[in-house]
Amino acid sequence: MKEILVATKNRGKVREIADLLAPFDIKVISLLDCGPMPQIIEDGLTFRANAAKKAVVIAQHTGRLVMGEDSGLEVDALGGRPGVHSARYAGEGADDEKNNDKLIMELSGVAAEKRTARYRSAIALADKDQLVDVVEGACEGIIDTERRGTNGFGYDPLFIVPSRQKTFGELPLSVKQTMSHRANALRQFLKILEQYFLLR
Ligand code: IMP
Repeated sequence: MKEILVATKNRGKVREIADLLAPFDIKVISLLDCGPMPQIIEDGLTFRANAAKKAVVIAQHTGRLVMGEDSGLEVDALGGRPGVHSARYAGEGADDEKNNDKLIMELSGVAAEKRTARYRSAIALADKDQLVDVVEGACEGIIDTERRGTNGFGYDPLFIVPSRQKTFGELPLSVKQTMSHRANALRQFLKILEQYFLLR
């Protein structure tokens, strides 16, 4: 069976990626299943750059086929912040709760029609010799004034999906998987993965 190592310890991401790859004949493992790994400094200015760095550093270290995923939230009223800093928006080591509190505070007083935002995800494939490719996906939404629901992770309780008038915190994972930034990027990723395996 083919195997891919996902270069993350984020359980929410691992759950979604494993679920999306479940129909295919690919075993998904993550850094949660591995021993000590080199620290990856996420200093890229773009999701693409960070996704590529994660994939290449871990592929070179392990010699395995690696997926690097970098994602985040761009809020229009904040000039695109938190962007690549989404995981540490409220400071180094901040958790989802603190990041959500900060987002609610920064958007207090911002009118509903100006609360537009999008999630972005970049996914890179690398092996020990090369960065194979990087693909991207996005998902448009509106930032709520308070948390709703407990599904998902990160900013999901605040991220309203306009077509459903519910947050990803309220919607089941099965719905998020049909429209999320990560699912959209993963659809592209499957094409490069297929091509990669064909050429081996
Ligand atoms: P990364 O590990 O640097 O890619 O951090 C991504 C951060 O962006 C996460 O810690 C979340 O705060 C946010 N994020 C990315 N994707 C999602 C999602 O699907 N739902 C909620 N938050 C997300």
